[in-house]
Amino acid sequence: MVRTAHSLLVIAVLAAACSVGTGTPTSTTAPAAGVSTGDPDITAADTVARLGIHADDGLGDPLYPDLGNAGYDVQHVDVAIRFDTSSGRLEGQSVMEILALEDLDSWSVDLDFLFPSAVSVDGEPAEWSHENGELRIDPAKVVAAGKTVVLSITYGGLTEPYDSPAATFMMGIQRSVDGFFAISEPDGTSSWMPVNDHPSDKATYSLAVSVPGPLVVAASGTLVDVERADDGFIKYMFDVADPIAPYLLAFGVGDFKLVEQDGPDGVVIRNYFDVDIRDSTLSIFDRQAEMIAFLADRFGPYPFDTYGALVLDTTEVGVALETQTLSTFGAQVLSLGEEVVIHELAHQWFGDSVSLERWDDIWLNEGFATYTQWLWVEDTQGPEFRDVRIAQAYELMSGRQFLNGTGSESVAAAQAYRQFPPPGEPKADDIFNASVYLRGGLTLHALRLEVGDETFFDIARTFQKRFAYANATTADFIATVNEVAGQDLTGFVDAWLYDEAMPPLPSLGLAPLNG
Ligand code: TRP
Ligand code: ZN
Repeated sequence: MVRTAHSLLVIAVLAAACSVGTGTPTSTTAPAAGVSTGDPDITAADTVARLGIHADDGLGDPLYPDLGNAGYDVQHVDVAIRFDTSSGRLEGQSVMEILALEDLDSWSVDLDFLFPSAVSVDGEPAEWSHENGELRIDPAKVVAAGKTVVLSITYGGLTEPYDSPAATFMMGIQRSVDGFFAISEPDGTSSWMPVNDHPSDKATYSLAVSVPGPLVVAASGTLVDVERADDGFIKYMFDVADPIAPYLLAFGVGDFKLVEQDGPDGVVIRNYFDVDIRDSTLSIFDRQAEMIAFLADRFGPYPFDTYGALVLDTTEVGVALETQTLSTFGAQVLSLGEEVVIHELAHQWFGDSVSLERWDDIWLNEGFATYTQWLWVEDTQGPEFRDVRIAQAYELMSGRQFLNGTGSESVAAAQAYRQFPPPGEPKADDIFNASVYLRGGLTLHALRLEVGDETFFDIARTFQKRFAYANATTADFIATVNEVAGQDLTGFVDAWLYDEAMPPLPSLGLAPLNG
């Protein structure tokens, strides 16, 4: 029950419907101090240096400190998986090229629910232990800082979904009606492969997955080869040539039909639609090429070579996820229409190419994706309709909509809705709250009204270009705003992101509740 309720919350937030609510305590903490250097090449190494953490710890994420490891930087991963979908048993071999960021006598890799059976470093067997989702590796000799080694891990077991603190529906690898899929934001990738599970450690991947025919595998990247084996298994091989954050690896096994579309500027669009999804509900994907061109116009060129939608036949997980080059959609979200399509597409720029360096900056992903929905409304229906959406979001976030009711109940409801925390500092168990999406989107609209269209889109494009294929923080964003606008707007943006009270939007006649 709870799972379904949460799935619906995610759907509702994406749709900016007005019947959502999470009673999160209001945060009154001061804004997080800017930690960024503004350096476009922020790497795990910078995070290590700034936060003073090392390979014994997690990577030091402010919200999920145990995730990842700061002692090394994954360069490339070559993973081969044999997945028996009838039993759910997965056997894998992962070969990770890792660069030591400090002298490593030991380090950890995230691997949950599955078990290692052999580990080697540069071909030499290594000692290891495995506990609480952390695989600790003790190589025969210390790996010196600056050296790249090949870490090879043989692993396997019965796959199972898990309960993440970040969502109440099940996450990680799990069954669909006719196959399997993975939903991994923020920490589910370790349920199907060993990983340095943090968006600040992007790497390239080669992925080979064997499944019983005639099931089809869909994944991020380019399908480079398909081989049929004598035992009836089919091996699908993918190449992810652009760096990818671990949670953004798309993975689906099912009865898919491949539907191609002509993309703009040489972008190849290939969709994997589960054959049991009705064609009429798939029409929301008809305009993807146009949407790519629309967003390229505003934010700069589409960052990858391919795009498409992976549509799963699942009733369990009512969510969409912006998996890189192939966004994932649970069947239930299709009823949201084109807005969910453009939302996930927008994440290819904001979230995938320019990725979070720390999870508490999640508004950077969701605020831009939500704002893009409103830009699509503006373009396809007109600015008046965009303003209706802005006003609805504002009234929901400020609690004002409830004052239109009668009696004390509406005042109480209004006060309850003031419990939405500001978007800039979500809690670890609440990173997808409605404020991250809606007040995140409103932050961007307020900025646009403040600086004008030309400067606003110039800011967005500069931010994109500067941090493409890398990571950025809110501080990086604000530094870009100030530089491009030629004025100090730190206080203006901070108020939208961190103040308990909603700032007003005077030109639209929108103001917060008193007191
Ligand atoms: N990031 C997803 C989107 O906005 C939605 C989402 C929220 C999600 N919570 C999640 C995805 C948990 C996976 C797991 O498109
Ligand atoms: Zn989103």
